[in-house]
Amino acid sequence: MSNNSEASHLNHSAADRKLAMKVDHVTKIFPVLKGSGAKTGDTFCVFKDVKFDVREGEFITMVGHSGCGKSTLLNIMAGFDKPSTGGIIVDGKEVTEPGLDRMVVFQSFALMPWLTCFDNVRVAVRSAHPDWSGPELDEHTQKYIDMMGLTGSEKKRPALLSGGMRQRVGIARAFCVNPKVLLLDEPFAQIDALTRGVIQEEMMAMWQRSNATVFMVTHDVDEAILLSDRIALMSNGPEAELAEIIDVNIPRPRTRQQMIESPEYSRVRNHILRFLISHQKQPGGSTEPAGKALTDSADESTNETPQKAEV
Ligand SMILES: Nc1ncnc2c1ncn2[C@@H]1O[C@H](COP(=O)(O)OP(=O)(O)OP(=O)(O)O)[C@@H](O)[C@H]1O
Ligand SMILES: [Mg+2]
Repeated sequence: MSNNSEASHLNHSAADRKLAMKVDHVTKIFPVLKGSGAKTGDTFCVFKDVKFDVREGEFITMVGHSGCGKSTLLNIMAGFDKPSTGGIIVDGKEVTEPGLDRMVVFQSFALMPWLTCFDNVRVAVRSAHPDWSGPELDEHTQKYIDMMGLTGSEKKRPALLSGGMRQRVGIARAFCVNPKVLLLDEPFAQIDALTRGVIQEEMMAMWQRSNATVFMVTHDVDEAILLSDRIALMSNGPEAELAEIIDVNIPRPRTRQQMIESPEYSRVRNHILRFLISHQKQPGGSTEPAGKALTDSADESTNETPQKAEV
């Protein structure tokens, strides 16, 4: 396991690649909302001094308990929110606003309800390539519709699509503009388990074909291991910190079957579960001491049948 020093975060192949995004000592402080007994001007620090690099073509996932600030950090990366201190650098430039170089897939699908499935994707292609002709836009759009298994549903509006299909449209829309960085905030959380598995695999294939750089937030530990090159673990808020980043050395292309048979899977999964157990909130608001958690069931040497592990 690597610790939180920048050089040791990177496995060798990733370290050789160009820098895609730098999260540079980012801290976020919010005002305390009224009605919680707060005085005007009270603030709370969600997370502090988060720093890590993402290399081109890398798939990095962030896992941590609810409220530690994962979505806040992703929104800052997307340019929807601003850091209190520090900054995000993409392609050598500081992020100050949303842009087509950073496409976001939200948990809530966020499609335009008045547009068809095809047009929801086409509108993104058009904003990235305003000089393309109609047939060029159509051809590129159709390619991504087909890749995400949406062929035949082009003319349907989002209301007529299942949750899984809506999220496929969201993923096609994000990939089709070939962004520098893709930002995914729990993209599969609202999808049933069977469909989720299929879409995860489709997305993994799309990611490998496109060599995109991905930052994803998830609560699903197996999803994180299946998809990621590295997994970033956040400690609990307030004042959450990036505790460590773990390398996932399972060969690609991966299948779920290969993953669960790999000793690396057990090692990484148990390490993450230990971390999460040791940071679990107790009824009094404290976190469970790490020493106790280490005596619990998550033993790195075991290789038992996986149970669903979500934070
Ligand atoms: N605009 C805001 N103003 C004030 N507080 C906010 C704002 N946005 C988020 N917060 C607070 O910041 C903290 C982190 O929220 P965030 O949504 O980033 O957590 P998260 O790690 O994504 O949680 P979850 O896993 O439940 O999605 C929470 O305590 C939340 O209430
Ligand atoms: Mg969130």
